[in-house]
Amino acid sequence: MTIPVIIDCDPGIDDVMALTLAFAHPELDIKLITTEPGNQTQAKTIHNALAFTSYMKQDIEIARGLDAPFFRKLEIAAEVHGDNGLGDVQFPEPTIQLSNRTAIEAMKETLIASEEQIVLIATGPLTNIGALLLAHPEVKSKIKYISYMGGAAVGGNMSPTAEFNVYVDPHAAEIVFQSGIPIVMSGLDVTHKAYVTLEELDRIEAIGSDFAHKVAAMLRFYVHAAKQTAFHSPEFENRIRLHDLCAVSYVLTPELFEGDDCYVAIEIEGKYTAGTTVVDYEQRTGLPHNVKVLHTVHREKFVEQFMDAVKVMSRHIG
Ligand code: RIB
Ligand code: CA
Repeated sequence: MTIPVIIDCDPGIDDVMALTLAFAHPELDIKLITTEPGNQTQAKTIHNALAFTSYMKQDIEIARGLDAPFFRKLEIAAEVHGDNGLGDVQFPEPTIQLSNRTAIEAMKETLIASEEQIVLIATGPLTNIGALLLAHPEVKSKIKYISYMGGAAVGGNMSPTAEFNVYVDPHAAEIVFQSGIPIVMSGLDVTHKAYVTLEELDRIEAIGSDFAHKVAAMLRFYVHAAKQTAFHSPEFENRIRLHDLCAVSYVLTPELFEGDDCYVAIEIEGKYTAGTTVVDYEQRTGLPHNVKVLHTVHREKFVEQFMDAVKVMSRHIG
């Protein structure tokens, strides 16, 4: 039984780790990949999506999303993902062309044409999905759920309380979180536990393929981001968090995760809190649950699943 999915991303080091897992599992029927700016500029995230998908020898439509968040000025994360957005690791020039459909057109037409509901996997700001739901609310019934990497019940990584993806476009996030579409949120609460260690990174590199070396090089670049964690302590320093991987892994193996159904709202304004996911995990608002907020992952199995994906794709690339 295959699961039809659309992947919306801002590649991004952990975005391509998520794509790796998705490409390695044929039970995911990837209908479309859409991109938006976030980790890097629009041009760079598009290029990275095309180059990485080409390198992975995948034949999947890639469509360009909106150029900027709904209202806020785009803020990128070059210090975390590097000047090229992939830890300055170089991939061959793309062999596939960008779709002539926009992301919104492609998502709408793919969803309407599908005979079964599609899972949206989102690993960047929600600008594209928010715009899709505003422009074409009729597609809601064709979306099974949204597996989203973003937000946090406690703590942030872009401000004291806001996680990057939601911080970049809180208005779009609010549209999505209030849409009534079921959401499974892999926020920082679970992604801070979804890490590889330096020893596991050495095991990945020991796979020995060109791809394994590229994965290791990207993750080594990403290590320094691990040092900027909240509540900094030596034990956290070398935890390389594979945030976006959670959004794909949950679709494949939900049994690796635990979460709670909560009401979640997005703080739009707020001098210090804009972009915060306000997670009502003690149900103090009495408002109906709209999100499953993940908080636990079976880390060892999660890491093994990723390592297996690197091996599978190394063989596929040849
Ligand atoms: O906060 C982590 C998220 O922001 C990940 O999706 C990462 O790729 C960046 O986009
Ligand atoms: Ca991302």
